[in-house]
Amino acid sequence: MRKPIVAGNWKMNNTIRESVALAQGVRELVGSLTSVDVVVCPTYVSLHAVAEAVKGSNIAVGAQDAYVKDSGAYTGEISPRMILDAGAAWTIIGHSERRHIIGETDALLNEKCRFALDCGLKVMFCIGELLEERKAGKMQDVLRRQVEEGLKGLPAALLENLVIAYEPVWAIGTGETATPEQAEEAHVFTREVLAGMFGRDAAQAMRIQYGGSVKPDNAAELFSKENVDGFLVGGASLKADSFAAIVKAAC
Ligand code: PGA
Repeated sequence: MRKPIVAGNWKMNNTIRESVALAQGVRELVGSLTSVDVVVCPTYVSLHAVAEAVKGSNIAVGAQDAYVKDSGAYTGEISPRMILDAGAAWTIIGHSERRHIIGETDALLNEKCRFALDCGLKVMFCIGELLEERKAGKMQDVLRRQVEEGLKGLPAALLENLVIAYEPVWAIGTGETATPEQAEEAHVFTREVLAGMFGRDAAQAMRIQYGGSVKPDNAAELFSKENVDGFLVGGASLKADSFAAIVKAAC
């Protein structure tokens, strides 16, 4: 049985004070649930304060990215060691906004993923096709490339700290959600690719989240699919009550 995992990606939203208030709200509503892993991902500057705000609850904290070096002359970057020191256990790697706005490549994301895991962070690794890629019938090619390039060379021992997030780019922040069938199809395919790389047992054990306009009113239907193991939530994670409703749908 794969334990469900629901994470809130707060993106570039909320000051420290606002982040703490949101974290406290989430804690009140779902902080004692143990049947689902709950992660909140504020900006770097709020990581420590949010980690303090959820300390002692079942809510974990994650960063939204992590660089590939421990320290040094890398202006503007943050290392996994610093993220861990701030009280976070997780990081997102390869979010579509970093792939498509910042221009991060499969090769860089592979380095980021491996380094973060090596340093002891848990990773939510995002994949997903653009609308034009889906329309051109290339969804599977894109997912295969992102998984094979992004996760190559990962030691089997670290796979338990890795979660995949399937986020079709056309569904992120658009209000347009993949249907449960579309999500399941992509998750099944992704699991096949993972099985080819890491073996069937490891692939079966790996959790695959869906992300892209997940809301309280569509979460339960998506979660009813066998291969949907939780969610990575953007917009709807910015309100404690809607995020909590999504968490509860995945219980
Ligand atoms: P959304 O974002 O829920 O606002 O579509 C999801 C994400 O980017 O992780």
